[in-house]
Amino acid sequence: MSKEQKVAIVTGASQGIGAGLVQAYRENGYAVVANSRGIKPSSDEGVVTVPGNIGDRRIAEQVVNTAIERFGRIDTLINNAGIFIGKPFTDYTQEDFNSVLDVNVAGFFHVTQLALGQMLKQGRGHIVQITTALVDQPLSDIPSGLAALTKGGLDAVTRGLAIEYAKTGIRVNAVAPGIIRTPMHAPATHEFLAGQHPMGRLGEIEEIVDAVLYLERAGFVTGETIHVDGGQHAGR
Ligand SMILES: NC(=O)c1ccc[n+]([C@@H]2O[C@H](COP(=O)([O-])OP(=O)(O)OC[C@H]3O[C@@H](n4cnc5c(N)ncnc54)[C@H](OP(=O)(O)O)[C@@H]3O)[C@@H](O)[C@H]2O)c1
Repeated sequence: MSKEQKVAIVTGASQGIGAGLVQAYRENGYAVVANSRGIKPSSDEGVVTVPGNIGDRRIAEQVVNTAIERFGRIDTLINNAGIFIGKPFTDYTQEDFNSVLDVNVAGFFHVTQLALGQMLKQGRGHIVQITTALVDQPLSDIPSGLAALTKGGLDAVTRGLAIEYAKTGIRVNAVAPGIIRTPMHAPATHEFLAGQHPMGRLGEIEEIVDAVLYLERAGFVTGETIHVDGGQHAGR
């Protein structure tokens, strides 16, 4: 790999939106370090996989060190790994709380802190969170307090870090999806879920990927959350 090769890290990369992001960044000439708990080695020499729970700091260290050792730099970090447990708030168990906080919050904190250190040395970088439209517009049919709690935090810290690092060459943005056709949702639920959006359909993985790629080339955009949600955040 040439020293000028751009490098992206994608968490939650084995399926769904994360797998779509890996493919898109490869098509745009990036080397990719791809993480998920069960991710398999790739036949593409431009993709290095690091299996493990991204909420574990040692895995986050492995992900960041792999990018630096194999490719020499980190241009982009996409914090995509996330889980969703929809329940009435009083039904959440301690295990639910721990699981969602571990992936959605610890899974952001460790890898972002470590990748930022490298980006500061480089004097450039881009960090993108995949949040949810539920942060702005809760749905009465889908109780999801832990999604609001954790993804709301990511939405806030996106602006927080964007301002903290605005003068360093590092941009920090987010994409807030509506309900997207990924393995997260069983096909039997699709019709019901489609009806949650003003536009009356599910979103597609490519539509989230397009928004991330826009942010990638948008050099004057930081602290932004782009909603790709069929109008969900705007109202019912
Ligand atoms: N699909 C939607 O409707 C929707 C809506 C709003 C927001 N989002 C957000 O978009 C992101 C991607 O969602 P998706 O629909 O593509 O999900 P998905 O199809 O369920 O895929 C989730 C990915 O995260 C990985 N993952 C889960 N726990 C992990 C952990 N502890 N450490 C590392 N990787 C982990 C999974 O792989 P392993 O099982 O191998 O770990 C998988 O690759 C998530 O942050 C989600 O909250 C999705």
